[in-house]
Amino acid sequence: MNLLAIETSCDETSAAVLASVAGRPVLRSCVILSQDVHRVFGGVVPELASRAHLTAIVPVVDQALAEAGLELEDVEAVAVTAGPGLVGALLVGVLYGKTLARRLGRPLIGVHHLEGHLFAPTLEHPDFAPPCVALLVSGGHTMLLDVPEWGTYRLLGTTRDDAAGEAFDKVGTLLELGYPGGPAIERLAATGRPARFRFPRPMLQALEHEGPDQFSFSFSGLKTAVLRAVRQSDDLDRDRPDLARGFQDAVIEVLVEKAAVAVESCGYDTLMLGGGVACNGALRAAAERRLGRTARVVVASNRLNTDNAAMIGAAALFRLGRGEQHGPDLEPAAALPLPGLLTAPAPTGTAR
Ligand code: KG4
Ligand code: ZN
Repeated sequence: MNLLAIETSCDETSAAVLASVAGRPVLRSCVILSQDVHRVFGGVVPELASRAHLTAIVPVVDQALAEAGLELEDVEAVAVTAGPGLVGALLVGVLYGKTLARRLGRPLIGVHHLEGHLFAPTLEHPDFAPPCVALLVSGGHTMLLDVPEWGTYRLLGTTRDDAAGEAFDKVGTLLELGYPGGPAIERLAATGRPARFRFPRPMLQALEHEGPDQFSFSFSGLKTAVLRAVRQSDDLDRDRPDLARGFQDAVIEVLVEKAAVAVESCGYDTLMLGGGVACNGALRAAAERRLGRTARVVVASNRLNTDNAAMIGAAALFRLGRGEQHGPDLEPAAALPLPGLLTAPAPTGTAR
């Protein structure tokens, strides 16, 4: 089965073609057009994102089909990110996907963006499968999930304020590094001294106590601590790498510690890292160091960790395989609960 997947939830217009071979997703092509226009404004401007998707969607889909050697008529199913995301941006992909599915008389499936991030490693690590703990860290979300099986997700913890990627982006702005901040902070931090700025590790203490906040995150106080240090600096050019390092070390320690304890308390042998922040090599290395032989750390390549349609296609093949599909009433949703999210309390009882 040839599936065309579309992702337009934020500032990437992306289309991918996947085939399902012996029950596994195989990537035939993936085109990702990143909207550069937002750099000028230091963050994503929703209205500009929608317009850029409108301009790009047809050529991006054409290119994905051409690279896969397919004509439009060869498409046997259409998948599109239905949310969460910028509603105007999502609308472009959803309308395009709905129209195409209807015209071709093919099934349509709306995909949750974060379930897409969860499925990204399946395209590169055929042996990756639940049970696992998943840490999804992107520009808009920070979620620690217990994944006993595909389609069943138990939320262990999320952020109380800023998402992890949002914190990278805001600190990037404070350090005058432009948007997005994550990649620039990682580059700078590599040359920074770890001991010069010791920033707080927000909510790390909560790990000690079983309770609703054990696996929660908070990054806005850390951002304020960096802001104070930036204001106190008499030579930002000199201090910038050390500030980047101090900030990155604090974020990574909290993320990795909470993820590792979650893996231990669930008794699993796999930690999956996903979302744009999982492109951070220092995060991956710290997770591998912390988990040692207890669990392996599975991460997709950077190209598939940042927003792309290939991951949406991989999640779509799972959903279609379960007999799910959507009708022409599929609507984009800025906020959308993860399908299969259990509301029962998370298992506690950590091994600490
Ligand atoms: O998943 P993604 O592409 O978009 C959303 O769904 O939000 O994630 C984008 C986020 C941005 O906040 C960006 O700064 C962050 O991922 N990011 C990184 C790195 N590369 C991208 N954060 C830290 N280190 C990186 N190397
Ligand atoms: Zn994303």
